[in-house]
Amino acid sequence: MGIDIIKKRKTIRKFKDIKIEIEDMRTLIEAAIQAPSAHNFQPWEFILIDSNEVKEKLSSKMASTWTNNLIKDGKPLHEIQERISMSKGRINNAPFIIIPCFDTSKIEKYDDERDNAEFIMGLQSVALASENILLRATEKGFGALWLCAPLFCPEDVREVIGIPNHILPQEILIIGIPDEDPIKPKRRDLKDVIHHNKW
Ligand SMILES: Cc1cc2nc3c(=O)[nH]c(=O)nc-3n(C[C@H](O)[C@H](O)[C@H](O)COP(=O)(O)O)c2cc1C
Repeated sequence: MGIDIIKKRKTIRKFKDIKIEIEDMRTLIEAAIQAPSAHNFQPWEFILIDSNEVKEKLSSKMASTWTNNLIKDGKPLHEIQERISMSKGRINNAPFIIIPCFDTSKIEKYDDERDNAEFIMGLQSVALASENILLRATEKGFGALWLCAPLFCPEDVREVIGIPNHILPQEILIIGIPDEDPIKPKRRDLKDVIHHNKW
């Protein structure tokens, strides 16, 4: 795997209605756990979901919290219905779902500002593992969509899946066979992002 796979990876939001085998998802997790992690603590857990019943429970629970938030934001009813229906559809129709989680019991604890640094390092480690999943998925011909929604309703995800309190679900990764070939969003130029020896 090299720069070609890194460049090829892009977000896929439409998937073919083709069943994904759990064995294929295991190879993605195999890539995930090769990621570096702070202190080599490997503070990750991965929830694999292919049950329609679990997907439905998850999407309904998350939708109720999101609906309440959108009402609070004063969004019009038709917009709320449209967004909730799209969001539920994405989860219910997902060929496979992986939820990378951060195990906060695995990190160093301090009673000063180092605690926050260790927490961030844990998050960074899980994010690196997640990127490995995206890259391996690309290499294997799968598409993937990263949904940040669990960060906004972690209790919903925790309740439906039965996740203990010290485990923080980070995102929902929808994995499947791509049914679209979107143009990858343009990247900022190298010259705009590199700071050589000074800002
Ligand atoms: C932390 C993070 C959160 C994201 N959340 C969402 C999301 O909730 N919904 C969505 O459609 N895409 C989401 N994405 C995908 C981004 O929109 C996408 O990566 C970005 O537009 C660049 O496109 P590319 O992945 O095709 O290169 C997320 C990506 C990241 C890294």
